[in-house]
Amino acid sequence: MTGDGTRSVRAGEPPAVPGAPLRPSPVFAAPYHLGNRPPGADGADGYGRSDSPTLRAFETAVGELDGGSCLSFATGMAAISAVLLACTSAGDRVVLPSDGYYATRKLAAEELGRFGLRVETVATTEIGALAARGDLEGARLVLLETPSNPRLDICDVAAVARATRAAGALLAVDNTTATPLGQRPLELGADLVVASDTKALSGHSDLLIGHVSVRDEALRSRLHAWRHSTGALPGPFEAWLAHRSMSTLDLRLARQAQTAAAVADLLAEHPAVAGVRWPWRAGDPSYELATAQMLRPNGVVSAELADEAAAGRFLAASRLWTAATSFGGVHSTVDRRAQWGGDDVPPGFLRLSCGIEDTDDLVRDMRTALDAV
Ligand SMILES: Cc1ncc(COP(=O)(O)O)c(C=O)c1O
Repeated sequence: MTGDGTRSVRAGEPPAVPGAPLRPSPVFAAPYHLGNRPPGADGADGYGRSDSPTLRAFETAVGELDGGSCLSFATGMAAISAVLLACTSAGDRVVLPSDGYYATRKLAAEELGRFGLRVETVATTEIGALAARGDLEGARLVLLETPSNPRLDICDVAAVARATRAAGALLAVDNTTATPLGQRPLELGADLVVASDTKALSGHSDLLIGHVSVRDEALRSRLHAWRHSTGALPGPFEAWLAHRSMSTLDLRLARQAQTAAAVADLLAEHPAVAGVRWPWRAGDPSYELATAQMLRPNGVVSAELADEAAAGRFLAASRLWTAATSFGGVHSTVDRRAQWGGDDVPPGFLRLSCGIEDTDDLVRDMRTALDAV
């Protein structure tokens, strides 16, 4: 296999055709000429809600990185909803993380019950023990989020995959934080990988998009039928822009991880800070599993200041750490998660996302801001 830089640029590339563009431009069409043949004959496009050449180009690239076949969705939540609703039926038992992205938990709490799903939530660090006890018996679908957002806990995907397979359940992994370069859940035995590519994969904070990758053709057809019926697909412009942006994924991740290592050290030694988490820092509770299971680090770090006022002083004194939600983008950002109300975190808990500004500048700016706390 080629390296991450090569794959970020070249994944899914079609054979070179003289005169064709290196990277095709977006095709915005809604209907396509049908002529006098039935829609879909010879794989020809008929209507943009079903498919489009621009989506296929993006999906071929992401699918190659994931080691599966990819379908793009309008957002990460559209992709997660598709997995939860297209792969289950009324009465099914579904297991979700209790400490994962809050919108997934909100979807489960406020919507899924109405469709007759029996939802249970389990902490990321406890799902392994549950699986080992055989307590996944009778489940239809298990969703993991590893590393979890925002606490960055990790679980053993291969071990849970063995248990879900034995139980006859499907295993889906939310791979948003890791990215397809950082973790390949399909190779670890998962049936589905789902992600918000709004985050690091596209990485410029200027679009929303998500995807699901699978290896099973029947599962892919099921998800494609769901996407077609619900219209949950991205626009061609977003798919094209995400494809263009992922060419630099390897470079961005490398800088983000380099900065995260420096920032995690600084945070850990500063008296104003407690509870620093970065899974690739020796001594972190996720360290052993992260280094065994994942392929490379990324730039998401979490830490706790004393309270909301301390977080306010930090932000007021910083020039380069911008208050914003989301993560994985080129800007370095800080999100005081308690302000959103969805996560079980203390008021001073911060999720930091290292961008691609110079590491030295970010460290210097953070030291100044921490000293002001
Ligand atoms: C882990 C995780 N999954 C899914 C999502 C949802 O993604 P989107 O905002 O693209 O719908 C997010 C967004 O923050 C996330 O962090």
